[in-house]
Amino acid sequence: MNIILLGPPGAGKGTQAQKLVAERGMIQLSTGDMLREARSSGTEMGKIVADVMDRGDLVTDEIVIGLIEEKLNGPQGGGFIFDGFPRTLAQADALEALLRKVGQSLAAVIEMRVDDEALVARITARSTCADCGAVYNDRTRPIPADGKCENCGGTEFTRRADDNEESLRQRLMEYYKKTSPLIGYYHAKGKLHPIDGLADIDTVSGEIKAVLDKA
Ligand code: AP5
Ligand code: MG
Repeated sequence: MNIILLGPPGAGKGTQAQKLVAERGMIQLSTGDMLREARSSGTEMGKIVADVMDRGDLVTDEIVIGLIEEKLNGPQGGGFIFDGFPRTLAQADALEALLRKVGQSLAAVIEMRVDDEALVARITARSTCADCGAVYNDRTRPIPADGKCENCGGTEFTRRADDNEESLRQRLMEYYKKTSPLIGYYHAKGKLHPIDGLADIDTVSGEIKAVLDKA
C-alpha cells in the first residue's frame, strides 16, 4: 500500500512515517532527508540545493522527481510512504506516472492539519538523532534522560539549519502557494483523508491507522 503524508513543515510527517516503518515495514521516502543526505555527502547536487533549502525555498521539480524515481526502482517493502513529496502539481503528476510505470498505485493521501502557531512551536523545539534520524522535541518528545536515542542508542543530536523563524516563514509561504493546491487535486481523485495533526502523537497514529485499515 502506497500513501502520501501531506502537510506543512512541522505537521508531523516524519514522526508518523517513522512509526509506520517500525510497525508496518513500509519504506519512508522523504525527499527532505534525501536532500540533506546529498548535502552532507558533498555531492554536486548537494551543493546546488544547500542554499535553496536553508532559505526555505523549494528545490526544482526535476531534482526531486529524479530522487524518487531512483527509489521506486528499488525494494518496495510493505509499500511506500511519500513524506514531503509531492509538493507541486507537476510532482504529483510525475508521481502518478512513475507509480504506473512500476505497476503501483496510490491508496491514500493523508492531509495532516495543524495551525501555524503550533508549527512554529514544534519546529523551534525539534532535534534529530544524528545517527538514525529519529525525531525528538524538547517539549513533546524529549531526548531520554540518559542522553541516548530510543531507537539506536546514538548520543549525538542535531538541529536543522532551516529550523529558524525566517526560513520557516518562507517554508510556510511555499507550502500555501505551491503545495496546498494538492489538497484539491487529491480530493478530486477521491484519495484525500484529512486528519487532526494537532492531537498528540499516538492519537494521530491511531487516526492514520484507521484510514489505512479502510483503504
Ligand atoms: P522537509 O525535510 O520535507 O521539511 P518540511 O516539509 O518543512 O517538514 P518537516 O520535516 O520540517 O516537518 P515534519 O512534518 O516532518 O514534522 P516532524 O515529524 O519532524 O523539507 C526540507 C526542505 O527540503 C524544503 O524546505 C525544500 O527546500 C526541500 N524539499 C524537500 N522535499 C522537496 C520537494 N518534494 N520538492 C522541492 N523541495 C523539497 O515534527 C516536527 C516536530 O514536532 C518534531 O519535534 C516532533 O517531535 C514534533 N511533533 C510531531 N508530531 C507531533 C504531535 N502530534 N504533537 C506534538 N509534537 C509533535
Ligand atoms: Mg520531516
